[in-house]
Amino acid sequence: MRLILLGPPGSGKGTQAQRLVQRYGIVQLSTGDMLRAAVAAQTPIGLKAKDIMAAGGLVPDDVVVGIIADRIEQPDAVNGFILDGFPRTVPQAEALDALLKQKQMTLDAVIELRVNEGVLLERVERRAAETRARGEAVRPDDTPEVLTKRLASYRDQTEPLIHYYSDHRMLATVDGMMPIEEVTEEIGRILAAVGRAGGTRSAKKATSAKRSPKAAKKTAKKAAPVKKSAKAAKKASKSSKKAPKMVKSARKSAKKAPKKASKAAARVSKGTRKTSAKAAKKRAKR
Ligand code: AP5
Repeated sequence: MRLILLGPPGSGKGTQAQRLVQRYGIVQLSTGDMLRAAVAAQTPIGLKAKDIMAAGGLVPDDVVVGIIADRIEQPDAVNGFILDGFPRTVPQAEALDALLKQKQMTLDAVIELRVNEGVLLERVERRAAETRARGEAVRPDDTPEVLTKRLASYRDQTEPLIHYYSDHRMLATVDGMMPIEEVTEEIGRILAAVGRAGGTRSAKKATSAKRSPKAAKKTAKKAAPVKKSAKAAKKASKSSKKAPKMVKSARKSAKKAPKKASKAAARVSKGTRKTSAKAAKKRAKR
């Protein structure tokens, strides 16, 4: 499985990537982590990136594309990977497309974590406080001033990727405002829906099919952002009649959940009716 996690600073890309690593046994490729390691080791790339990162800007495309090109060839990436923080610009996305094509690899999903800007500073400040409490060094870009610049970089250079992947019918949007566990569950449902994670036990668990009607109803409610993205993709694909497989199945699963819930609820009430009819018959006999 190969997927991209897209979202502004503090949206939960790293948090979710780590959970997906455990769940699916694939590697997390975080360009931010790799660049921070290069800065710490004072490599030529690190020296180039240090000031740019500290100022909240983006490291040049050729540098990060080079890093990723090398990294996806490593043996531990053979089963798949989660790209966390890459691509971040349209040229990076185009370079990734070319790279994957050249290596005869395909991308399974692009998942956008959508979070209100208002909570991002709160999250980043909390992360900085937790890091400090552990006695570790706080990221130099985790300050309110630099976060403002990182958000501006995201809006100007990374947000266009939402349209890029929506146009490529690859995008699924998840409400990143939900609790961490629920975001992971939602991503699991999307991955199961695209049919790539269907074989793994965890992915099956993540689908709502085997849940109680109550849980299915709850999940269906929370699937709203996926529905939204499916709607957006539908709009975008009006010109082409070939509806994307991924969005189609995501839409199907989002539609099925409430149906399943009401069917199950109907079964339950039918069962209750049957039981009370039997009891009445028994009473009449007596
Ligand atoms: P990078 O390291 O990628 O940073 P970022 O994108 O700004 O993202 P963050 O790591 O800050 O946040 P996150 O979304 O991973 O959130 P997290 O899970 O930690 O990049 C740093 C810099 O490197 C860039 O600014 C740039 O200079 C450079 N760079 C990197 N890649 C590049 C590229 N491709 N091209 C050019 N330059 C590049 O969560 C944050 C906090 O919120 C945590 O405390 C977490 O516990 C909490 N949290 C997470 N989810 C939830 C939730 N659902 N509810 C409540 N709290 C939550």
